[in-house]
Amino acid sequence: MSVHVIADNASKIPTLRALIERQHVVTSETLSSASIKRTGMEAAVIAVDVAAVDNIAALKAISERLARIPKRIFVIDGKGRLPIVQAYALGATGVLANPVTQAELLAKLAPVEMPVFPVGEICGPTMEAASAGAASIASMFSAVMNGSAIDVGNARAAGGKIANSIAENGLSDWLSTVRRHHEGTYQHCLLVTGTAAAFGLNLGLAKADMERLYSAAMFHDVGKAKIPLAILDKPGRLDDRERAVIETHPAAGYDALKGTRGISSEILDAVRHHHEYLDGSGYPDALCAADISDIVRILTISDIFAALIEDRRYKAPKSRAEAYEILCGMRGKLEAPLVVAFKEVALNR
Ligand SMILES: [Fe+2]
Ligand SMILES: [Fe+2]
Repeated sequence: MSVHVIADNASKIPTLRALIERQHVVTSETLSSASIKRTGMEAAVIAVDVAAVDNIAALKAISERLARIPKRIFVIDGKGRLPIVQAYALGATGVLANPVTQAELLAKLAPVEMPVFPVGEICGPTMEAASAGAASIASMFSAVMNGSAIDVGNARAAGGKIANSIAENGLSDWLSTVRRHHEGTYQHCLLVTGTAAAFGLNLGLAKADMERLYSAAMFHDVGKAKIPLAILDKPGRLDDRERAVIETHPAAGYDALKGTRGISSEILDAVRHHHEYLDGSGYPDALCAADISDIVRILTISDIFAALIEDRRYKAPKSRAEAYEILCGMRGKLEAPLVVAFKEVALNR
């Protein structure tokens, strides 16, 4: 694989090169003079302090060329969750914290195996839409963690790019691209947005409703920015206490977005109620059918489907057919005619 190393300090480059040079063809440059002239590179390793203003400006200046490299592993110095989220907002597809080991770095650079998802040819516009979407979701997480303003317009535009990509290239292409290049919560939010957009297109939603749906999907799990990573990314089953913490995320997202300019009441409703079920068994408000809007019903089906097909280290992803079977088994909780309509999206689109 061809790997391009970029570092904010020239002294970091020899160490990183030494870790990967035996397995990969490596080129390198410093961030301040980075041009990324060569095309066709498969991965970048970017060792930078993501909190430094100069570095942020330099990364933004090369962001378009960087986004053409499918795998972008950031090696960061800071501790805690904020620098990790900042790296994703700057275009990372994976993040490691220093001191990084050879095994960690090589594992991140290794291709993702997707036994239940054959990988098609990844097309450029799909990859660009996924990168823009991941960066937008990460920057909204970072804003919620910082208490700073959320860029609503950016999230809506990124959601629009995703919907266009689905309309042009289909859902399969989207699912493969996202699962191959994005991780954890970002992967989940991108899969939900793409699935919801595909569902909306199949249902023939009007343009304004499509925009509401994909925007709601982009924002739906923003409350997870308030959930400790030890619980959010826990490999394995959650205990009752941890589950109770996770279940605070819809209300936390609602509280974080409430009063934000550009966030409509429909989006707030979707963020708060995407885990409600028609039979009243959902959370946080145990709503019943009449109180759950159409957009939320569509989003909930998309959310569950996306969670089932997700690629998590600790659980094997379900195939699209298996995930659809599970949705069909949730009688009374999801709107039956919508589940029927979702079949085409789940299996064929
Ligand atoms: Fe959620
Ligand atoms: Fe979700």
